[in-house]
Amino acid sequence: MSTEKENKNISNTTDAEIDKKLGIETVSFKCDTEFVNNLRALAASADMELEPFIRRLCSEHIRKNQLSEKPASSTELNWGDIKRLEPVHRDFGFGAGQPIDRFYIDQFFEQHCDDIHGCVLEIADNNYTKRFGVNRVLQSEIFHVTESEKATLVGNLVSGQNVPTEAFDCIILTQTLPFIYDVDSAIANCYRALKTNGVLLCTVNGISQISRYDMERWGDFWRFTNLSLAQLLKAHFKSSTKNPEAVSITTFGNVLTATSLLFGIPSQELQMKELNHHDQDYQVLIGARAVKF
Ligand SMILES: C[S@@+](CC[C@H](N)C(=O)[O-])C[C@H]1O[C@@H](n2cnc3c(N)ncnc32)[C@H](O)[C@@H]1O
Repeated sequence: MSTEKENKNISNTTDAEIDKKLGIETVSFKCDTEFVNNLRALAASADMELEPFIRRLCSEHIRKNQLSEKPASSTELNWGDIKRLEPVHRDFGFGAGQPIDRFYIDQFFEQHCDDIHGCVLEIADNNYTKRFGVNRVLQSEIFHVTESEKATLVGNLVSGQNVPTEAFDCIILTQTLPFIYDVDSAIANCYRALKTNGVLLCTVNGISQISRYDMERWGDFWRFTNLSLAQLLKAHFKSSTKNPEAVSITTFGNVLTATSLLFGIPSQELQMKELNHHDQDYQVLIGARAVKF
């Protein structure tokens, strides 16, 4: 196995790369005839010309040196409890407290709670409608893809089945697009279901484990970035000179909260300043507000 890999590494290294590494154009050295003859004999026994044989020796030497040069951090790193192949909790941290992405969803709704008013549609349950819409909500509808006790509408966001037209002031679409293959159709039907000036509040994960529960029912298909979510939404929610910001995106997370979520470590284990630290390259949660103008 390792020999195969080594050979592959060697043959993948071009002559030009080896020359560059060795500074061959600038380096010349003398060696005696006996040494050269020995090299020639070795090359012949390997059934190779002298020059490619020397190149192979050199590249192998470089590769071994690179392997032995470990970065200082890898020897100093204290892995503590997280050098493990199993997560701390496999359920996102629900059993032990509040999952990290749910902490960020709360923050997202705190920013946009005024949009949750009038007739509101939410997927699977109406937890966020009740918590953040409070007395602004006049009618709460719960949409589900299969029959459920809570559902007031059973239908499909992709086909549009049972999705009413221009009916809602707000649609709360939390953690749903990752579980729908044809996200473009789902967004088109959300757009159709909103009244003019209605708002879609949508959250998705950028980084997360697979949701086994969803995978086994309707499928777990996607993780997103701020860019992919913005483009998907902007295809339907159009800005204009009068209304320049039909779609606005907020990202949440950092490397610590991303790894905590993957390990199933709940938000209670982290300090506020750790949860609130923002690193755009670790998008644990992406929140979008899209207005139908
Ligand atoms: C993780 S739940 C998200 C909803 C929940 N309120 C939340 O905040 O986590 C994923 C939901 O996707 C919904 N879903 C999957 N495929 C769908 C489809 N084609 N149309 C409508 N909903 C769908 C299922 O109803 C499921 O409840």
